[in-house]
Amino acid sequence: MIQKFFPSSLYNFLRFTNSVQLEKIVLDCGAGGSDPKLAFFHENGFKTYGIDISEESIEGSNKFCEKYGIRLNIIKGDMRNIPFDPDFFSFIFSYNSIFHLSKGDCITAINEMYRVLKKGGLCYINFLSKDDYHYDDEDDFHSYYDDDEPDKYFNHFIIIYKEKRQILKGNYFNTGRTCILDYIVKKP
Ligand SMILES: C[S@@+](CC[C@H](N)C(=O)[O-])C[C@H]1O[C@@H](n2cnc3c(N)ncnc32)[C@H](O)[C@@H]1O
Repeated sequence: MIQKFFPSSLYNFLRFTNSVQLEKIVLDCGAGGSDPKLAFFHENGFKTYGIDISEESIEGSNKFCEKYGIRLNIIKGDMRNIPFDPDFFSFIFSYNSIFHLSKGDCITAINEMYRVLKKGGLCYINFLSKDDYHYDDEDDFHSYYDDDEPDKYFNHFIIIYKEKRQILKGNYFNTGRTCILDYIVKKP
């Protein structure tokens, strides 16, 4: 068993997945790094797949898998062109990753998630809010959003849950972030 805590947003998404009668198969977009969030879904009985654009990030998640003796199936891939067939996954998430994309690329990635998600499937994505502490920093690497701005990306989906997490002291799950927008959407 993996003895660690995961971000509260993922527990919330897990709660939603439990209400859907589909195979437990999940894709993480931006899945690499030394602390792969797919491990949480592995622990909860899901068949897991992940894609990440960076070999270094994939190496990090491979080390984690070796340490815990698990397979998460994280491969090299770009969420703007997801290397899976249509309607393959029941659940998709992208945690702290999509805001590394430009807003234009973000639309492309969300359309790709729609394509590979099964009818009735759920998707969780978080965005950086313009109320985040770092918004005013010189920063070309992250996209920040107004409260309702991502709504328009989900025209083909139904938004079933939306939350603004404003951290008043400390930061969100050791990320240095203080304000994020959580979306859970369903493919009708
Ligand atoms: C801040 S890390 C978060 C990693 C992981 N989700 C976590 O919570 O620990 C962002 C990840 O997104 C990946 N990434 C960035 N752009 C991507 C893209 N277009 N497709 C797939 N992965 C991407 C990066 O390589 C990096 O591993």
